[in-house]
Amino acid sequence: MKHIFITGGAGFIGSAFVRLILAERPQWHITNFDALTYAGNLDNLDGVDAARHRFVRGDIANREAVLAALDTDTAAIINFAAESHVDRSIMSADEFLRTNIIGTQVLLDAARAKNVKRFVQVSTDEVMGSLPEDDAAFFTEDSPFAPNSPYAASKAAAEHVVRAAHHTHHLDTVTTRCGNNYGARQFPEKLIPLLITNAMNDESVPVYGDGQNVRDWIYVDDHARGILAALERGASGATYCFGAREPRRNIEIVRSILASLGKPESLITYVTDRKGHDRRYAIDSTRAETELGWRPLETWESGIAKTIRWYADNAKWIERVRDGAYQAYYQQQYGAPSRAPTL
Ligand code: NAD
Ligand code: DAU
Repeated sequence: MKHIFITGGAGFIGSAFVRLILAERPQWHITNFDALTYAGNLDNLDGVDAARHRFVRGDIANREAVLAALDTDTAAIINFAAESHVDRSIMSADEFLRTNIIGTQVLLDAARAKNVKRFVQVSTDEVMGSLPEDDAAFFTEDSPFAPNSPYAASKAAAEHVVRAAHHTHHLDTVTTRCGNNYGARQFPEKLIPLLITNAMNDESVPVYGDGQNVRDWIYVDDHARGILAALERGASGATYCFGAREPRRNIEIVRSILASLGKPESLITYVTDRKGHDRRYAIDSTRAETELGWRPLETWESGIAKTIRWYADNAKWIERVRDGAYQAYYQQQYGAPSRAPTL
C-alpha cells in the first residue's frame, strides 16, 4: 500500500485527482487534507471509497495541524490547496499570500520533518503572465516569471519556495503548470460553470471587456492524469507545463455554450473589464508529452459536452453551492445579485 497526502482534495481539481487515484491505483490510499473554505465541498467526494480515503479538515498554513495529520509512511504530498480565483485576489490578497505561500512553505517543512519522499506543487500557467496576440507564441517551462494578478504572484512565490526547498534541502520536488481547467464540480465563480449555471437559469452571462481574451482550455481529468504522470515519472526538481492545445477567445466559448444549451445570445452582458486582465494564454506541452508520455484524451468538443451534461444532471449540487455566501460574492463582483436559483 502506498500512502499519499493530498491537500485541497475537496476542491475542483483535487477531488478529480482523488477519484483518479482511487480508480487507477488500487494499491494506494489517500489522506485528503482540506480546510473546506467556500471552494471546498464534501459533496465533491460523494461516493469515494472510504476504506482508501481519509478526510482531515485542516489548514495548510497551520503547522501543528499539518504535522498531526501527516503520517511518517507518506510517500508523497500533492499540494492542490490554494485560493484559486483571480477576481477574489483583486478584491483582497491576504488569504492568497497566507494559503498559497505560507501554506506551501509549511508543507515543505513538514515533508522534510516526516521524510516524505516526493513533493508535487500544482501550479499554473498564470505565473508566466500574458502572451502577445501572436498564434506562434506559447508558454514553455523556460518562459520567464511575470505574474500579473495577486493570485498569480502568490502562485509564483509558491513555486520559488518549492524551488528553494529542492536546491537548499535536496527535497525531491516536481512542479506542474496547467492552463484553464473545466469539467464537473468546478465552483461557479469561474467562467465556464458560471456561464452554464447562469444560462441554465436564464440569468445574464457577464463577459469582461471586449471578450477577446484567449484561454487554453483543458478537461480536468486530463490535468489530473498529468499530475499523476509528473508524480510517478517527473524528474526531481523539474517543471512540466500541461495544456490541451485548445485556445479559444472568451466570447467564442460563451457563444458556443449558449448554443449547446439552446439559450439566446441576448443573455450576454458585457461588463467592466477585470483589472490587469491577462490577454492571452497558450501552452506548449512538448516536455510533458515527450518526457512523461502524457497527452490529453479529451478534445474541447468532447470535454465540454461531458461538462454540460454533468451540470444538467446535478441541480442539487448547483443549488447548494449557489447559497447566500455565493450571492454576496456575486453582488460584490458584478454589482447586481444573480437571481435566486430557480432549479
Ligand atoms: P478550488 O478553489 O476549486 O479548490 C481549492 C481547495 O483548496 C478547496 O477545497 C479549499 O477548501 C482548499 N483550501 C483553500 N485554502 C486552504 C488552506 N489554507 N488549507 C487547506 N485547504 C485549503 O481550486 P482548483 O481550481 O481545484 O485548483 C486547485 C489547484 O490547481 C490550485 O493550486 C490552483 O492554483 C491550481 N490550478 C488551477 C487551475 C484551474 O483552472 N482551476 C489551473 C491550473 C492550476
Ligand atoms: O490559467 C490557469 C488559471 O485559470 C488558474 O490558475 C486559475 O486558478 C483559474 O481560476 C483560471 O484563471 P482565469 O482567470 O483565466 O479563469 P476565469 O474562469 O476566472 O476566467 C476565464 C476568462 O473569462 C478570463 O479571461 C476572464 C473571463 N471572465 C471570467 C468571469 C468569471 C469573464 O469574461 N466573465 C466572468 O464572469
